[in-house]
Amino acid sequence: MILRVIQGVASRGRAIMYRLLGVQIEGACWLRAIEIPRHHRAVRIGVGVMLDRGTVLLVSGEANGSEKIVLGRGTYVNRSTMIDASERVEIGERCMIGPFCYITDHDHAVGAGLDPGEGELISAPIRIGNRCWLGAHVSVLKGVSIGEGSVIGAGSVVTKPVPANSVAVGNPARVIKTLPSK
Ligand SMILES: CC(C)(COP(=O)(O)OP(=O)(O)OC[C@H]1O[C@@H](n2cnc3c(N)ncnc32)[C@H](O)[C@@H]1OP(=O)(O)O)[C@@H](O)C(=O)NCCC(=O)NCCS
Repeated sequence: MILRVIQGVASRGRAIMYRLLGVQIEGACWLRAIEIPRHHRAVRIGVGVMLDRGTVLLVSGEANGSEKIVLGRGTYVNRSTMIDASERVEIGERCMIGPFCYITDHDHAVGAGLDPGEGELISAPIRIGNRCWLGAHVSVLKGVSIGEGSVIGAGSVVTKPVPANSVAVGNPARVIKTLPSK
């Protein structure tokens, strides 16, 4: 009980600090020991979002005034997950993102003679629809959209769009089931 109160106070303190830094926090949310290192104004967090310990919201590239990470209301991000956006990563409402996931909207160009990371940044936005569940250790790569109500199995690497109400698993992730829509 005491721990819960302390965590609540700490969460509120973090929300105040990140608001002062420019993060758009739309209402009450639960922030454990998270990290938003830079470009705070490019991050929007909806009401009721819960970000568990070790969540990192990293915005790279130019601060051009646009939103680059958007988390819809009621979405939960489990421990040690990183969202790394240079263009835009949008996660819908009431999603559950498992622990140790990595969601990035960019790559470095690869080619003969280029050292790792030397190539230009190639980005394409990611959109994860409402009510999606990503299991543990899922990677989502640039340009991917995941339709509303879909489930991505643990350890999957999502490289192509996943339609709504699908269960997709594996590397690369492939749809194995279609779920009834809500
Ligand atoms: C995706 C998932 C929900 C599917 O569950 P399910 O509908 O019960 O699916 P099944 O167990 O019937 O598996 C169907 C097939 O997909 C395969 N499969 C299931 N999950 C897989 C995964 N994550 N990666 C690769 N293959 C997977 C199964 O081996 C099975 O293959 P088969 O038909 O050749 O035997 C579940 O397997 C999963 O990955 N859950 C995430 C767990 C997790 O990360 N929890 C932490 C939480 S926040």
